[in-house]
Amino acid sequence: MNTIRKVTVIGAGNMGGAIACGMAKGSVIRPEDITVTARTPASLDRIRAVYPEITVFTDNRTAVGGADLIIIAVKPWQIESVVEEIRGCVEPGRTVIASVVAGVAFRQLSSMFYPVLAEEDAGGSGRQNAQERLPMYRIIPNTAVSIGCSTTFIASEAGPDCAGDAIGRQIDAIFREMGDVLWVEENMLDAGMALASCGIAYALKYMEASIRGGIGLGFTEEEARRAVIGTVEGAVSLLKSEGSMPAREIDKVTTPGGYTFKGLKAMEDNGFSESVIAGLNASCK
Ligand SMILES: NC(=O)c1ccc[n+]([C@@H]2O[C@H](COP(=O)([O-])OP(=O)(O)OC[C@H]3O[C@@H](n4cnc5c(N)ncnc54)[C@H](OP(=O)(O)O)[C@@H]3O)[C@@H](O)[C@H]2O)c1
Repeated sequence: MNTIRKVTVIGAGNMGGAIACGMAKGSVIRPEDITVTARTPASLDRIRAVYPEITVFTDNRTAVGGADLIIIAVKPWQIESVVEEIRGCVEPGRTVIASVVAGVAFRQLSSMFYPVLAEEDAGGSGRQNAQERLPMYRIIPNTAVSIGCSTTFIASEAGPDCAGDAIGRQIDAIFREMGDVLWVEENMLDAGMALASCGIAYALKYMEASIRGGIGLGFTEEEARRAVIGTVEGAVSLLKSEGSMPAREIDKVTTPGGYTFKGLKAMEDNGFSESVIAGLNASCK
């Protein structure tokens, strides 16, 4: 396998649909080389309404025929039956597997794709035919993938050094068109999900609280929403343009005893930073 041209996405939900549309919008994979599957035609109609060039099927076996890259984007409890369906149709030496399914490890994916090897390994034979192995990747985007602004964590079964090999570079290019990409060891994927996938909800939670607080200060909901979005955008732009950490920008607006100082103190007295860290830790368990 040298070039990833044809891509099949199994699952046309929030993630699979957004990834398929993100690829179609980008320049690495042509829309006519993308195939998407779902259980119900209605989900596929939603994709075709935006990108009629995308091929759609409700039959996974047909859909993976000839695919260079298969992206599995179903719920964790649905993946086993999907793999059982498609594993006889993949082509070792050609097909690359990428799973966006959170919490399903390479070890589990391997035992789904190679049940015989898994049984033999359990029996202690240790037989592994490297040539028959499918390159496997785990990919954790967040919901901003739908607008090309995801922060996506990627791990390769063969380790993070594979980011620079022929397949890794192509996977990277596909997802980099949909936002930022960080290559990590598999054992950091859950932490990545907490920080960036769950993290998008945590950032929004801060914004929701600020909007509520703004309404309490006398603004209309629309005024508060506009002010909070603008302020967060400004904070993000400052960090990006200065390449700085938040503490430096906080210092610039904080005079001892001043308004911001009092506000930050009240937030910390009420456990702000500790609450955020507790939330991250809770979603990583
Ligand atoms: N949401 C996040 O921020 C996030 C982040 C990282 C990873 N993930 C992972 O992304 C995965 C998908 O999540 P989601 O939110 O996109 O779920 P979702 O909206 O429920 O989508 C699941 C999709 O899978 C399809 N499907 C189910 N069984 C199928 C089968 N046998 N063959 C073909 N398609 C099948 C469903 O088809 P129908 O539409 O016809 O029912 C649906 O389109 C999850 O495993 C999750 O862990 C999510």
